[in-house]
Amino acid sequence: MTAASPVIRKATLADQPRIHAIRMGVRENVLSDPSRVTDAEVAWYRDHAIFLVSEADGEIAGFTCANPQTGLIWGLFVDPDHEGQGHGRALLDAALAGLVAAGIVQAHLTTGAGTRAERFYRRHGWRETGRSLDGNIVFIKPLG
Ligand SMILES: CC(C)(COP(=O)(O)OP(=O)(O)OC[C@H]1O[C@@H](n2cnc3c(N)ncnc32)[C@H](O)[C@@H]1OP(=O)(O)O)[C@@H](O)C(=O)NCCC(=O)NCCS
Repeated sequence: MTAASPVIRKATLADQPRIHAIRMGVRENVLSDPSRVTDAEVAWYRDHAIFLVSEADGEIAGFTCANPQTGLIWGLFVDPDHEGQGHGRALLDAALAGLVAAGIVQAHLTTGAGTRAERFYRRHGWRETGRSLDGNIVFIKPLG
């Protein structure tokens, strides 16, 4: 059976338990210290920024957060059981469209070296500009 096409929509407060479970369930770019992500930050992305979920058959398979003030892709996470079904691409495309609509001309993010995410971003035209202090790759992508 082929997987259902991703359906992208805005995240709501009710989605938060499933979003949290996906964040804690990924096998790469694991959150080493959950206290580094505060409820206030998550609420800000939901209420004032770009916070999207991708659904398949009514179940949330992944989510993304982006900052329309700075062009940061703060997070992009897909449930391991739903990887390779187009959710990552659909979420990233929608987040970048939101950044373009907000007037951002260049997006940026950081991700772990040697991960599926690194390969995914390179395939999608992101360019490495160096390393962050914690050793992650800093990627940029011109928009428009
Ligand atoms: C990196 C990550 C977001 C990619 O998400 P994903 O949903 O697996 O990505 P996609 O399915 O859109 O694309 C991955 C590949 O799957 C394949 N694919 C995509 N849609 C497909 C479909 N419908 N059927 C079969 N294969 C498909 C393609 O080979 C695709 O490669 P492409 O990008 O060159 O087209 C995901 O692996 C993840 O969450 N990783 C762990 C957390 C993480 O590292 N996040 C990034 C932190 S910054």
